[in-house]
Amino acid sequence: MDEYVVIGNPIAHSKSPEIHAQFAAQTGQSLHYDRLLAPLHGFKAAVQVFRRRGGRGANVTVPFKLEAHALADQLTERARLAGAVNTLKFEGGRILGDNTDGAGLVTDIVTNAGQALAGRRILLLGAGGASRGALLPLLQQQPAELVIVNRTQSRAQELAQQFAEYGPVRSAAYAELEGVFDVIINATSASLSDDLPPLPVSVYGSETLAYDMMYGRQPTVFMQSAQQHGASVRDGLGMLVEQAAEAFLLWRGVRPATADVFASLRQQLSQ
Ligand code: ATR
Repeated sequence: MDEYVVIGNPIAHSKSPEIHAQFAAQTGQSLHYDRLLAPLHGFKAAVQVFRRRGGRGANVTVPFKLEAHALADQLTERARLAGAVNTLKFEGGRILGDNTDGAGLVTDIVTNAGQALAGRRILLLGAGGASRGALLPLLQQQPAELVIVNRTQSRAQELAQQFAEYGPVRSAAYAELEGVFDVIINATSASLSDDLPPLPVSVYGSETLAYDMMYGRQPTVFMQSAQQHGASVRDGLGMLVEQAAEAFLLWRGVRPATADVFASLRQQLSQ
């Protein structure tokens, strides 16, 4: 059977094996997908052992996405620009590196939430790896403008400069933000510590979708605040499922349906 793994440290919490098992059953693909805990300084060795065992591909999660980027012999454009890799495909002697996180985000917003991005004003909070990974897929949707805002402003400026050739992107300071945004994406890690990025409430309108890349049992503080100010909200569970579907497509050439998988994960979260 074709073998796949998700590699990280820690890894016990990963929902990927369950998601890919459901995709495999649904599409009739014969594969096995497991968790692989790599030592903090042992990512490359863990990949090598898995490949020698006949492994076909791997998802990569915290803290190894940069090392996976360095390890790949060949990168997709979105992985190159993200500077990080979450999906490896072993093709003969070569390793292809891809990054499906941004595509997963866009599919979840456009297809699942039904919120078009073309011609819209998008606000992206944060300038770390999560933002970087989202930028190319977001700009490919041809928004009217994409504003990156970050606590450390220089990081937002650098990202905006780097992506300027791909679409109308600029940076701003939180306090400078003006006007209502159609879609506001929280790509900061603030929600992990129940923190709220210092957003002026004037960014929210009744048509705004506020999206948090994090997910959990309860809405994040960012989602709660956005909702209080009239926005509709969505967490990152759909992004998790969609980035997995995109990886499955890369490996197997088939795109699985995601709605039932999403519903079962949501149900488990609420238990
Ligand atoms: P990741 O790879 O998950 O994006 P990261 O590179 O550490 O992680 O980036 C975390 C992002 O969340 C950064 O943009 C960070 O802002 P700084 O660049 O100023 O550090 C942002 N962030 C973290 N905690 C935050 C908070 N409490 N309020 C606002 N932004 C926060």
